[in-house]
Amino acid sequence: MARVYNFSAGPSMLPLPVLQKAQAELLDYKGTGMSVMEMSHRSAAFEEILQGTLAGIRRVLKVPDNYKIGFFQGGGTAQFAMVPLNLMTNGRADYIVTGNFSQKAAEEGAKYGTARIAASSKDKNFTYIPDVKAIQYDPQASYVHICQNNTIFGTVYKELPQVPGVPLVADMSSCIMSQPTDVSQYGLIYFGVQKNIAPAGMAVAIIREDLLGHARPECPTIMNYTKLIEKDSMYNTPNCWSIYMTGLVMDWLEHEVGGLEEMEKLNRRKAGLLYDYLDSQDFFCNPVQKEYRSIMNVTFTSPSKELDAKFCAEAAQAGLVSLKGHRLVGGMRASIYNAMPQEGVEKLVAFMDAFAKANR
Ligand SMILES: Cc1ncc(COP(=O)(O)O)c(C=O)c1O
Repeated sequence: MARVYNFSAGPSMLPLPVLQKAQAELLDYKGTGMSVMEMSHRSAAFEEILQGTLAGIRRVLKVPDNYKIGFFQGGGTAQFAMVPLNLMTNGRADYIVTGNFSQKAAEEGAKYGTARIAASSKDKNFTYIPDVKAIQYDPQASYVHICQNNTIFGTVYKELPQVPGVPLVADMSSCIMSQPTDVSQYGLIYFGVQKNIAPAGMAVAIIREDLLGHARPECPTIMNYTKLIEKDSMYNTPNCWSIYMTGLVMDWLEHEVGGLEEMEKLNRRKAGLLYDYLDSQDFFCNPVQKEYRSIMNVTFTSPSKELDAKFCAEAAQAGLVSLKGHRLVGGMRASIYNAMPQEGVEKLVAFMDAFAKANR
């Protein structure tokens, strides 16, 4: 079996035991004589899968009882529109812009009212997170929107905006389930599943109950959180396969990893290996202010664009693939999500060190 270490920002690595379970169940899911991909979403077998996945998310993330969980199509990007369509009740919302995706979310919000940029880190090419305590928030805003982990720029919030009476909405696409989360600090959490959770094609939203039922009249039914959640995320045919895979990943997190506290320890150890190496040398450079470093996406550059390209090509030959940075940043990016084994990061650090010595 020739599996590589895949550092892609998403779709990305899935845990090997999860892939093996899916493979074992592929042709005949629990005696049904068919795969989950072929199964009616109205069948008893799929109903059990869906309920199991919902319960798994609730247990692993410790989602309080007054929050609902829904599965939606259109990825993280559809959520950029669904948030204002469902939550921007008075035509005002605050957005903190810390990268490309929060910028896109704000642009989508601006279609439905005033999406005020309450703070931005664009002045330093998104290498930091604005001090959330120093921001002047709009006390009348329907919500404050953040992108908690910035996949492209490799930054993460260390503290969350908490504005009395104004719900916090967070895009957690690239950090969900990487560590324990106090869901009660948020009004709404959403994430595209294709990084830490499952194959692409689905987003999950976790919403405080009191925020449901206030969608704007122009909100399409398929984008209405309340309508879909009322129908157990089966208003129309859902992404059955992704729901099934999400359930398998919840089982893996719960029973094999031992929960999100353990997951965080593993993730901090992996990220620590990479950042300690970066801090110990002067060939590669990481532009992010240290206190805002992401433990999921680690960006770095070599001394030149030519060496960046050579690095990615030679790394791929060594079985370390998808290390090219996003076009907005250049250089390299190692996405080290939950499913990346520590061995993959150790191999990457050893490769970086050898490359630096050979190309100085
Ligand atoms: C933080 C974040 N939000 C949103 C998106 C967009 O998600 P999608 O491609 O599922 O629409 C991404 C994609 O990489 C992301 O990293």
